[in-house]
Amino acid sequence: MKDKIAVLTGAGVSAESGLGTYRDNGGLWDNYDPMEVASIEGWYRNRKLVLDFYNMQRAKLRDAQPNAAHLAIAALEDKYDVTVITQNVDNLHEKAGSTRVIHLHGEATKVRPENGVYDESYSEREVIDVGYEPVNLGDKAPNGSQLRPHIVFFGEAVPKIERAIDIVSAADLLLIVGTSMQVYPAAGLYRYADPKTPIYVVDPADLPLHDPRITHIKDVATKGMEKFTKILEER
Ligand code: OAD
Repeated sequence: MKDKIAVLTGAGVSAESGLGTYRDNGGLWDNYDPMEVASIEGWYRNRKLVLDFYNMQRAKLRDAQPNAAHLAIAALEDKYDVTVITQNVDNLHEKAGSTRVIHLHGEATKVRPENGVYDESYSEREVIDVGYEPVNLGDKAPNGSQLRPHIVFFGEAVPKIERAIDIVSAADLLLIVGTSMQVYPAAGLYRYADPKTPIYVVDPADLPLHDPRITHIKDVATKGMEKFTKILEER
């Protein structure tokens, strides 16, 4: 049986693909107020603003290509049983070839009815893949309700967190790439790793993580993944 690797990723893994992060200098949240464009209150206040914001995010993905870090994560599947748990709403892990990807915060290329039910038991049958096309006010789901981005807005529950906890708990190794670990519940996931499970973090910044299991590879995702892959080979 292959060893299990759980990979938790954030915006930093896609930075070298030209997609900006949220909280770095010049990041998305420097230019947009997340409470306006990515919260449930913001959605009910101004649906057009939120739709336009995600139309823009979706359009950026058309030409975005996975970088060497996404590819290195996908290549881990040759030898390991890998599940990627990503906070990213982009589709670069899939484009790189990762076959098991859990999108904790939703997917920019998908929408669903505003009045639909979305929880862990939900089959996602009402989720519609719109690719890179814009969705506008007045665009309705088959059930007649306004389409909304398939995004976990601030102020909403994170339905896939239970599955993510199970994956992290069962992992033989946890790899964390490019996340500031500031947004919960994702930021608390590493605590569910077994006490004996090694944790590797790839991120150029100092992070607020104090855990003896952690080895910090302080580098950008592409170079950091090269170092991580070498460490794995030498283990
Ligand atoms: P952040 O923008 O908070 O953090 C990005 C992280 O990437 C930081 O730790 C950076 O140091 C690191 N970074 C920057 N460039 C990098 C590079 N080239 N290689 C590797 N790492 C690099 O993004 P997230 O932690 O992903 O949620 O943010 C979490 C959530 O907050 C997002 O999913 C989003 C946001 O609000 C929603 O919109 C629902």
